[in-house]
Amino acid sequence: MLIVFINAAVCVLLLALPVRAETLEVLHWWTSASERRAADFLVSRLEKEGLDWKDAAIPGGSGLGAMKVLKSRVLSDKAPQAAQLIGPAIAEWGDLGLLLELDGVAKQAKWGASILPTPYASVRLRGHVIAAPLGVHRINTLFYNQKIFKQLGLQPPQTWPEFERTADKIKRAGFIPLAQSGEPWQVATLFESLVLSEGGPAYYRDLFVRRRANAFFDPRLGRALERLRALRRYMPDPIAEKSWTLTAKMLAKDEAAMMMMGDWVKGELNAWGLATDVAFGCVAVPGTADMHLYSIDTLVMFAGNYSRQDAQEKLAQLIVSPAVQAGYNRIKGSVPVRRDADIRQMDSCSRSSWQTFVKGGMVQAPSLTHRMASDEALKDAIVAQVHRYFMDPQMPTSEAQRRMAGIVRALGAGEKDI
Ligand code: GAL
Repeated sequence: MLIVFINAAVCVLLLALPVRAETLEVLHWWTSASERRAADFLVSRLEKEGLDWKDAAIPGGSGLGAMKVLKSRVLSDKAPQAAQLIGPAIAEWGDLGLLLELDGVAKQAKWGASILPTPYASVRLRGHVIAAPLGVHRINTLFYNQKIFKQLGLQPPQTWPEFERTADKIKRAGFIPLAQSGEPWQVATLFESLVLSEGGPAYYRDLFVRRRANAFFDPRLGRALERLRALRRYMPDPIAEKSWTLTAKMLAKDEAAMMMMGDWVKGELNAWGLATDVAFGCVAVPGTADMHLYSIDTLVMFAGNYSRQDAQEKLAQLIVSPAVQAGYNRIKGSVPVRRDADIRQMDSCSRSSWQTFVKGGMVQAPSLTHRMASDEALKDAIVAQVHRYFMDPQMPTSEAQRRMAGIVRALGAGEKDI
């Protein structure tokens, strides 16, 4: 009796407390100048709705540290209210019952009709919406320094023979042809663009989505690996494990003439005051003009005890709204996930990315390195293998192919198709 009374008294007391602004802790890895600005843009929009964004930013390009922190926090029952989680992991975590279903928001804002098919599919699990997509990055992007290209009278290369001729001229003129870091994920990011260039989206999916072990013995993978190694002669020597922002600095400071990396580099160059088409230009990686190697930045909401559901739903709704999509993606370097995105407001890089992406599944390939194609285990094992091959010129290409096939066999089959 006494316990019941005390419980009731505590409840009354709690109800009488003044209402404070709801706080949502958001875990992500956006710490560079442009990433920070893009996150701050979301913070300010959220503030207008009376919600506080408590920042949990874990540094480290491609989110290696952030994913570790997120996992350990979830395991110790300290999940944040929202986090950047992308690709098949969304469904895996959804299956564990960790994620808040956003069906109400999605229905009300008509996400099914307004979001492009691939990002929409990536946030759904058995008919439920379990995440909110922010933007689509294009990985197969080649950036070039306008000043160096003008000075040497060069055109951006579209084929590999053109690339080599261009890079040789740049080298002779005393510049570094290709800015590149030796950091494993950055090497793997270049590698996957080369695989796409050699084999196209269907072959790429055979390798990393369907995980067909035999596909790893195909000469197309051999050629992609050999090109990765051959490109070393155009990279800084020795090659350092610089962060992606420091690597992009080489391009910004007119030390290097080209860089192949996801278009978050565009956001970063813009944040440093370098304008698209003025200071630098971008084209697709040679041989991938009509292809889109994508990564979709996405926020999931952790259900917890459902006490922040209203605020979480507000965040989700805001993220997908047209104005936030346009503003956020312009800063981040990615493109909106919405069908009604206004291409007149985009620069040439984003326009080309968006116009290619909307062509649909046939031209699209999910980034392995950026967690869109497979689970963490396969990604980590392949990235480590590619890095080893890249750093060790003695390793025969066939040996690298055999090892990758072995990894796929050991880890088991992937998706039939997506
Ligand atoms: C990607 C991520 C991007 C970008 C990049 C560098 O994995 O999708 O948002 O920030 O890493 O950290």
